[in-house]
Amino acid sequence: MDNPPARGLPPLPNVSIDLDSGRLTGASSGYAKRFAELRGVFADDEALTALIEERPEAVAYEVSEWRRSDEAGDLAFGTTVLQPVMVGREFNMTRGHLHRVADRTEMYLGLAGEGALVLTGPDGPSRVVALSRGSVAYVPPWTRHRAVNVGSTEFAFLFCYPADAGQDYDAVERGGGLPIMIVSDGQGGWRAETRSRHLRGAGTVSGRDTGRD
Ligand code: PA5
Ligand code: NI
Repeated sequence: MDNPPARGLPPLPNVSIDLDSGRLTGASSGYAKRFAELRGVFADDEALTALIEERPEAVAYEVSEWRRSDEAGDLAFGTTVLQPVMVGREFNMTRGHLHRVADRTEMYLGLAGEGALVLTGPDGPSRVVALSRGSVAYVPPWTRHRAVNVGSTEFAFLFCYPADAGQDYDAVERGGGLPIMIVSDGQGGWRAETRSRHLRGAGTVSGRDTGRD
């Protein structure tokens, strides 16, 4: 896209977003991610297996987006809607990724429900940013990120990122997942814990920006 188009304008989106549900109309692509495809993502394998056995088709989240191309200079944008589901003590969440072009950034805008965005920098430190309707979060370069539904209703957010960013899921898996997990605090709220192989992770993460205390 070094040169202007020969004539006219490129294709423009005909997209609208229902701000109460996060549902997007006019997407150029989208997918639903089922819990059955998320083995290894949640800490509690037994709880995930039980959920899948009970509801094999259960959807964890849906992504709808619009993009014109995958080229540098273009933007991709869309919405993600996460279902309110617990997997053991852990809240439903996206797989999480590093952008394949790792210095690419992203912004999130909360639309509906209550969520959290887990951010983990290249050298390890994590932050958790609470997201609800109208709140904005920023994913810096070289930052692994994952969205979590910490509420009891659907959590929906808008995302926007450079169209050439891509998603590298192996980068997260190679590192054994993100180093923290978002779990129930046992009192109707949530907290971040250091992720360990075991369900009872130890320690509260420092550097939490916002959220209920
Ligand atoms: O680019 C983003 O961060 C989002 O569009 C996510 O891809 C989306 O929320 C789904 O998450 P993931 O790609 O980690 O499964
Ligand atoms: Ni991203």
